[in-house]
Order: sequence, then C-alpha cells, then structure tokens
Amino acid sequence: MNKKSQNLIQIGTTPAADNIYIQVIKNGPYKVLGEPKLIQVYIRQNESRQSGYYEEAKTFETSDEMYLCRCGHSKNAPFCDGSHVNAGENLEEQASFEPLLNNSMAIEGPTQILTDNEKYCAFSRFCDNGERIWNEVQLSGEEHEKLTEFMVNQCSAGRLLLLDKKTMQPIESAEDAGIYPIEDSAIGCSGPLMVRGGIRVESATGESYEVRNRQALCRCGKSSNKPFCNGAHASVKYQDGLM
Ligand code: FES
Repeated sequence: MNKKSQNLIQIGTTPAADNIYIQVIKNGPYKVLGEPKLIQVYIRQNESRQSGYYEEAKTFETSDEMYLCRCGHSKNAPFCDGSHVNAGENLEEQASFEPLLNNSMAIEGPTQILTDNEKYCAFSRFCDNGERIWNEVQLSGEEHEKLTEFMVNQCSAGRLLLLDKKTMQPIESAEDAGIYPIEDSAIGCSGPLMVRGGIRVESATGESYEVRNRQALCRCGKSSNKPFCNGAHASVKYQDGLM
C-alpha cells in the first residue's frame, strides 16, 4: 500500500506528489520536503474595503528540505532561525485527525451546499467581504453562485467547502503545491502559511492529517488548534517582520 492510499484525502482534493509534504517537528518548526513554491501574499481590499484578493509579493528561494517558523519568533521569517528553543511557546498540536466534514455544518442553497467547520477559521474574511457567504449560498442566480464559489476558493484555511447539489462533488480545482505566508495589512498583522494543492501535513506523532486542497498552518505560535491556524494571529497582532 502506498502512502496516498493510507491517508485520508478530503473529497475534491487532488493530492500533491508523494515527495512533497510537511512534517511538524515536536516543539520546533515545519520541515518542508519536495520543494513546493514559497510565495508571500498580501490580502488586498475590494471596493467595500473588505478582503478582495491575494496579491503575490516576494518569492522565496526554496530547497528540497527547508524549515519554516511556527513559533512566531524567527527574525528570518518565513524560515526558522532556531528562536523556538528559547521562545517558551507551547507548540503542542491540538488538532483532530478526523475529516473536517465530520464536524462541519451544512447550509443548503438552490444549487449548492456550503459546509463550514468554524474551528478552522484563519480569519482571512473573504466570506464576509461586503456580502456574507452564508446568505449568498441561499440566493438564486448565477451571480450569487459565482460569488459563493469565489469566496470558498479564497478561504485560506479550507474551513469552507462548496458542493454541487446535483453531483454532491466539491467545486474545487486541482492546484500546484504551494505555501504562501500571508500578510494582512488591513488589520496590521501577518497571518498563517496558506498551504494549497493537497500537501500532506504529518504530525510530530507520525500520523497524517486529512489531506486538503486548502489549509492554513499557524506560524504565530498562538493557535489553540495547532498545527492549524485559528485566527489567533489577529488578536496578538503577529508580525513576521516582512510586511
Ligand atoms: S498564524 Fe493564525 S493562529 Fe497562528
């Protein structure tokens, strides 16, 4: 049995190549293997001055094995500089290995079903950007369907998933494996590592979390759902020093 068949894979996710994955190091950084791209992104505002789109900024040099900060104290973000050793952050993982959909609620609209697992909110706010996704999904018409799709696709953490009601399959497209450190200038802080393209995340215990197309990994050290972001960076105003 190969690795892929042993791992839980969320419906609608196309897994990255086997050699691309992230290992959580106990009390340490993320070890990233297989050289996915690593690009800083800014959340830019729309005309309603809410989250509108991601703008790519700095592309970082990558290597086949790299270490990314998850304690929030590195002076060389997004890379680890060893600061976790003296930072005194509690980096224990608390997240469940269960599929996200097991604990999601569902809202049924005329043609789409929105699922929502609030625990995985990374506070990127595309779902509430002047219109609220929980209303949008319930409205009829192509304009509302397209907006709902857009909002779900921008959801950095994968808290939200959208199913086509006819096929009951997620509206999700395969993406290249990539890691995107987020900067959120509207609220004046840095955010998580947005991980896209079905990259497997392996706990320090050796067990893998469900493989998902969109995930957000905590890099401020303060989430209570580690290794995933739960939006705590916004309350502590995490700064990576790159904004
Ligand atoms: S980066 Fe979001 S909670 Fe740590």
